[in-house]
Amino acid sequence: MSKITAAITAVGGYVPDFVLSNKELEKMVDTTDEWIISRTGIKERRILKGEGLGTSDLGAPAVLELCKKRGIDPMEIELLICATTTPDFVFPATANVICDKIGAKKAFGFDISAACSGFLYSLVTGSKYIESGQYKKVVVVGADKMSSIIDYSDRATCVIFGDGAGAVLLEPNTDGFGVMDSILRSDGSGRVYLHQKAGGSVKPASHATVDAKEHYVFQDGQPVFKFAVTNMADVSAEILERNRMTGDDVAWLVPHQANKRIIDATANRMNVGPEKVMLNIQKYGNTTSGTIPLCLWDYEKQLNKGDNLILAAFGGGFTWGSVWLKWAY
Ligand code: UT7
Repeated sequence: MSKITAAITAVGGYVPDFVLSNKELEKMVDTTDEWIISRTGIKERRILKGEGLGTSDLGAPAVLELCKKRGIDPMEIELLICATTTPDFVFPATANVICDKIGAKKAFGFDISAACSGFLYSLVTGSKYIESGQYKKVVVVGADKMSSIIDYSDRATCVIFGDGAGAVLLEPNTDGFGVMDSILRSDGSGRVYLHQKAGGSVKPASHATVDAKEHYVFQDGQPVFKFAVTNMADVSAEILERNRMTGDDVAWLVPHQANKRIIDATANRMNVGPEKVMLNIQKYGNTTSGTIPLCLWDYEKQLNKGDNLILAAFGGGFTWGSVWLKWAY
């Protein structure tokens, strides 16, 4: 019997309606539309508004859209993995909440916390369940309500992030399509440059932590930028080399959308022209776990069966990685 690979057979996505433009941010902090566009490539981002709404309210519609496209009932989902840095609750897992909201009553689920690399970590994990032969329908959703942990008086972070979710369905394939290879890495010493100071077991929430604004994203941008440029490009070049591929073999680079300058550096290193780079940072900003599946969602109609896709990410942790995928439809 031929080897079982995990193929993406449907993509879903969801971004909230509310648009926060650079012009609007100019009224909130000391920044300019020109600075944001030239330093990051972002023009606007989406924000989830509404009392009592969380990350699961972004993930659930993305998964429902995927089910509709593929013509499956949520009851057919066996496993749902949610990549998120902004879970609905400390516990239970947001994956469980999404399953409840969409009626996936036969699925088990868990969250993966790997910041901006969360979707890649989850995609690789989900693909192993498929490759085992035991699971036939695995959903991987990357969802983040970043606005819930952003300080809108901190210009260093509030211009970057946005809310959104994307989801993919993984099914077994024996014709050589799907996840072909992956490299995942992490280095916990990078945590000092990008983290949330309080709200975990080291520093539980208290009046003092709230007063000190320690429940927001802290980022020392420049070192993160340097690590991101080097590591995302290195790992993307490595996956090409070890599979004897060059930039010419790549149909699409699907990079995490943190900063257009990091994306350009990765594409240059791989010898991939700008026409083959998926880009939607200008309209969604950095949606953390949502960026890569939202790119697939936006570009789905331009993809062809057999296309070689290189997915690449870098994020807090530090975490990073790349995945080689052969598009299946
Ligand atoms: O997705 C997870 C991983 N995260 C990343 O990959 C993010 C990596 N880092 C970055 O993308 C960039 O470092 C940022 C976009 C966050 C910042 O860009 P930068 O070119 O590294 O700027 P900087 O932090 O070196 O700051 C340059 C200047 C500073 O002013 P001075 O000291 O030169 O007077 C900042 O205070 O720009 C200032 N600045 C701003 N000015 C206007 C910082 N933020 C802003 C702002 N508007 N929003």
